[in-house]
Amino acid sequence: MTDLATRYNIPGQHFWLHGPRSGPAVEFDAQTGMWSVYGYPEAHDILGDPETFSSNTLRLLPKGMVPDSEEFSMEGFITQIDPPLHGKLRKLVSSAFTRKVVADLEPRIAELTRELLDAAKERGHLELVTDLAYPLPVIVIAELLGVPTSDRDLFKQWADALFQRDAKFSLSEPAETQQMDAAIKPWKEMTAYLAAHAAERRAHPRADLITRLVEAEVDGERLPDDQVVNFAMTLLLAGHITTTMLLGNTVLCLDAFPDQQARVMADRSLVPHAIEESLRLFTPFAAVSRATRREVTVGEATIPADQMMLVWLAAANRDPRQFADPETFDLGRDPNPHVAFGRGVHFCLGAPLARLEGRVALDILLDYFGPLRAAEGVEMIPTPTMTGVRRLALA
Ligand code: HEM
Repeated sequence: MTDLATRYNIPGQHFWLHGPRSGPAVEFDAQTGMWSVYGYPEAHDILGDPETFSSNTLRLLPKGMVPDSEEFSMEGFITQIDPPLHGKLRKLVSSAFTRKVVADLEPRIAELTRELLDAAKERGHLELVTDLAYPLPVIVIAELLGVPTSDRDLFKQWADALFQRDAKFSLSEPAETQQMDAAIKPWKEMTAYLAAHAAERRAHPRADLITRLVEAEVDGERLPDDQVVNFAMTLLLAGHITTTMLLGNTVLCLDAFPDQQARVMADRSLVPHAIEESLRLFTPFAAVSRATRREVTVGEATIPADQMMLVWLAAANRDPRQFADPETFDLGRDPNPHVAFGRGVHFCLGAPLARLEGRVALDILLDYFGPLRAAEGVEMIPTPTMTGVRRLALA
């Protein structure tokens, strides 16, 4: 894998892409002030135990590191909320964002993929991210929510301002404050934009997801306005960057492992395996955070209460204790119990959509341009906790 890291200019901070790591499964990182978890069984247990490991990690950030919570806070977001409140909220949003709503999108995803690839074919070249991996999921999520796809440059500006940072997150480095401050404006704009859409749907319901969220009801309870906005915002942001990373990474994996690409070219029933194996080997959200509620022993480490933890899903997905030959992209890996979508109560709500988009788009991409070969100059997103291709032109 070291060769691949060099070949694709993968930054050093993406340590999980630089060959097998040695060292303990859990360790304290003095530079960030957080505990890092790298092992699969440890990550598996932590994600399955929200009683001990809270998702509400913002409370541990030192004062001054995050802007005033009145202005900018993730506190009310589903990913930060613990049981039992989390279960109630998840039930409500799931009643609007169902598997059927997602499954029904398949023909539209295929149509959009063909439109985008036809345009690239006409131009005679394909830069995967700009031409397919970015626009496809954004258009799909915008259409699903019911916000104008023509506003997608705006969504990109917001998503970039909120996500694409190159600084390492640290509890002890105040430099982060500046980056957070820069995120306030897009945050406010996005909140106001979605609040206006939600208010409009209350007055004039339509056949879209924002209307379904506004009308969602479980046991006589509805989502409060701010939760409709929060969830729409989560979907718009998550619907953006994640599948974009997944598609780019999958093409990179196929380029790096041509024997596996030949297999999937010859047998398209392997397309879903390619998507799962890409999620394992190039895990898009490389890490998720948790906070200890009490002193607890994880692996060999004893961690005090109220400590911030980074659970490195990307490293867990390459743990040789769980995956044989973990550095190899292997379409025959079955079962493939990767934790790229997390695990437990917070398991990714968008996993069915990401998988569907990945599967449909890869199948059509192979029809149009297979075998897929990356040209020189692949670029990765610099954000330390993300694994994703930012630029990949086909040779
Ligand atoms: C949660 C990864 C795509 C919506 C999560 C979590 C992970 C994840 C790791 C768990 C976070 C935690 O435990 O703290 C991914 C990956 C994706 C992807 C790798 C694509 C390859 C999507 C998409 C959507 C989405 C397309 C929606 C359009 C969500 C939501 C949650 C979530 C709403 C929060 C669930 C909860 O807290 O109950 N995702 N995601 N994700 N994801 Fe995704």
